[in-house]
Parts: sequence; structure tokens; C-alpha cells
Amino acid sequence: MGLEITPASDAVGAFCSGIKLNNLKDAELNLIKEAFFEFGVLFFRDQEMEPEHHIDFAERLGEIEINRFFTPVPGFPQIAQVLKEPDQAKNIGGGWHTDHSYDQIPAMGSILRAIELPQTGGDTLFASVQAAYEDLSEEDKDLIENLNGLHSSRHIFGYDAGEAKDVGDRFANPELAVQDAVHPVALAHPETGRKGIYVNAGFTTGIEGMEKKQSDEILDRLWATCANEKYHYRFKWEPGSLAMWDNRSTWHWALNDYHGQRRYMHRITLKGVPLS
Ligand code: SIN
Repeated sequence: MGLEITPASDAVGAFCSGIKLNNLKDAELNLIKEAFFEFGVLFFRDQEMEPEHHIDFAERLGEIEINRFFTPVPGFPQIAQVLKEPDQAKNIGGGWHTDHSYDQIPAMGSILRAIELPQTGGDTLFASVQAAYEDLSEEDKDLIENLNGLHSSRHIFGYDAGEAKDVGDRFANPELAVQDAVHPVALAHPETGRKGIYVNAGFTTGIEGMEKKQSDEILDRLWATCANEKYHYRFKWEPGSLAMWDNRSTWHWALNDYHGQRRYMHRITLKGVPLS
């Protein structure tokens, strides 16, 4: 039995079974790459992987982008720790966002591997911002067609960022939180051309050239659209699970509903291309 790809929901995500990521044939890798752009998120179960396998798999998909704010896994600077300890209140990624949109060349994708899971909770929600875009009214599509979103890392990872204070020493290098970036609000996907809404509540700070009130109105409307459950899939992690998502066509949200328990994940991000 070879690779089988089964959609996870109508809007986003697919399960890939029948393969081992630590021993992947080139033909299987090519099918995974195609499915990645088609479904936005791919889920894998029962993977027996070590950090070296995670890195090898990532390098077969693209070039690794090292996140400068997350604490790396000791001995593996390419892998970021996504960690919440039992005595910590705040988790990392606990709201709708897409990784690295604050970069001028945002990361293409992220590959997250479960290391230690809580007994209950700790699921990740994914949303298709392409399905959400397709359901916008023609009027709203015209409205956002030529708009650019402003994205920043400062309010999340900078010296004064509340988020960075809340997650304590799990974030580092606040002096590097000086990235601001401008990207199209209605983004034609660089690989497929399929359009999606490329703003997110985590890192988007406004719309270029627009007063705050008007910008907030448009962003709130777009966020409310993407937040509709019909565009979502809720992934339940198991030991051996791995998820990889396309940051240009999806949002994600790590649910923070497992207080008093430990959740530890390893994440690798992959370099992307300029967005236009
Ligand atoms: C992230 O936001 O990249 C982490 C998602 C998760 O921990 O489920």
C-alpha cells in the first residue's frame, strides 16, 4: 500500500497515510508537494522520527528558515521549540495567525511535530483563507483587490510586547523585532494562483495608506469571514503526529485548553518567495 491522501474537511487539510516520512521515495515526496498546495495543510500519523529526520524531510521540501525569536531545540538550531509548561498560563500561537507574515519574504510553510502532548486538549485549528476569499461578495473582492496589508513583528516579539512578556524565556532576541512588511491583502498564491485573504490578527497591523478606522473596519470584516467554522478543521494531535501547513493559504490557532499540563512541539519553517 502506498501513499493515500484523504481530505480532512470540505475547506482545508488532508490526511496522508501509507508512508513513512523518514524513508520517503521521491515519487511520494512529489505527491506530498502537490497535495500541500492543494489542501493547505497535511496531517501525518504514527511517524517514527528523530530531529534529524524532521530536518531531512524539511530540506527535501525547501530551504529552512530559522525563526529568530523562538528558543531552538538544543543541538538543532533549525528546529524551534513550541512549548508550554504546566505552570505557564500562555501558550505560543494561541490566536489566529500565519507564521512569519512580518517578514518581507514570509516563510512558505511550517512543519510541526508532536513531542509531548497533554492528556486532554492542545488541538490546533486550521482555516482556509482561500475558501474564505472565494465566498466574499464581489463588492468585497473589488474593495480589497489592490490593497496592501501592513505586518509587523514588533508588537509580538519586541521589547515592549505583552505577548513576549507572557511567554517569558520561550521567546528571545527582542532587539531583532524590527521587521515590518507590506503584502497584498488579496494574495494570488505564488504556486497555484488561487486567491486568498492574506491578513491575520496576529501580525497584521493595518492597511497601507488607510486611516485606522477604515482599516479596522475592513480587517475586522475579513477576520470575521475567515473565522467562520465552515472554513476550518480541528486537528487532534497524537503521539507520532506531524502537520505541515502552507502559510500563504491558511491560518492556524494552537488552542490553550490544557492548563497544568505540558505540551511540547518541534517546529521547522521553510523559506518562501516574495509575495506580489
Ligand atoms: C504555531 O503557532 O506555529 C504552533 C501551533 C501549535 O502549537 O499547534
